[in-house]
Amino acid sequence: MSDSWLGLKNKVVVITGAVGGMGTKFSKDFAEQGAKVVLVDLLKDKTEALAKKLTDEYGVETLALQCNTTNEKEVDQAVKTVVDKFGQVDVLVNTAAILRFSPLEDLRLDEWKQALDVNITGYFLMSQRFGKIMIKQNHGTLIHISTAASLSPETYSGAYSTTKAAVNMMSKQMAAEWGQFGIRSNTVLPCLVKTPLSENFYSDPKVEDGRKRLVASKRIGNLTDISNTVLFLASDRSDYTNGSEIPVDGGIHMMISDMIPKPGGRRQYAIDHHDPK
Ligand SMILES: NC(=O)c1ccc[n+]([C@@H]2O[C@H](COP(=O)([O-])OP(=O)(O)OC[C@H]3O[C@@H](n4cnc5c(N)ncnc54)[C@H](O)[C@@H]3O)[C@@H](O)[C@H]2O)c1
Repeated sequence: MSDSWLGLKNKVVVITGAVGGMGTKFSKDFAEQGAKVVLVDLLKDKTEALAKKLTDEYGVETLALQCNTTNEKEVDQAVKTVVDKFGQVDVLVNTAAILRFSPLEDLRLDEWKQALDVNITGYFLMSQRFGKIMIKQNHGTLIHISTAASLSPETYSGAYSTTKAAVNMMSKQMAAEWGQFGIRSNTVLPCLVKTPLSENFYSDPKVEDGRKRLVASKRIGNLTDISNTVLFLASDRSDYTNGSEIPVDGGIHMMISDMIPKPGGRRQYAIDHHDPK
């Protein structure tokens, strides 16, 4: 991919959850564009190893920060370290989140609170503290990785959907309050994406086929699909996109009417569609 259209070269990009399935891909793609990448994660060794790899492969400056996004002191220290090293911050990608499956009636209070802490408070704290630098600079871009499950509940996923719905609103509020300071805030809503963690769901071809049928685009997404949207939102090419929720899901979010069983043998795209393969 050429760096000229996106213009991300030398931008300072902070990515949380940087060594997870999505975070690793985002970090690599920003480095490939020539951005200075700040990797934030709980996992010190993995974060340092990825930072070194990106510098070796792409010749870009990187910074590895072991930081818990829910810890005020650690986040403030991360902001200071980034500003001391690079003097600015252009993009924050909030990716660090947790998902613990449980029916609501069995969800323990400490699990509920932990999900709220990481998935909402962590996103808020990072945005607020890096946002203050962006306000001073009069420019900056916030990208929050949410999920299609923020629009419709992912059953038995504990507090996950609730926290992600809150992220969508938080992002809009940031867009509304901070747009005047040259800050844009948008959410990305992935669904049905093959990641290192979800890859095993697809080892059964019946599961993959059943899922593909429900997607308008008739395929399962990949990390590049999500990363391309993140890069676009980080770049000035999306300069007038603010407060948006962008589903990256092959259109599954708008297929609900098609999923309703139809009477009298009426044609139904998800069921009657024949895979051209
Ligand atoms: N994987 C999918 O299919 C999928 C689909 C929709 C949305 N998402 C969203 O994408 C994002 C990333 O998902 P993933 O599959 O890469 O997850 P992952 O579990 O592979 O990675 C999450 C990373 O965040 C880090 N992390 C967790 N808590 C942290 C904290 N408090 N402080 C700092 N780092 C912390 C972990 O160490 C890990 O490296 C999440 O926001 C998730 O909700 C994922």
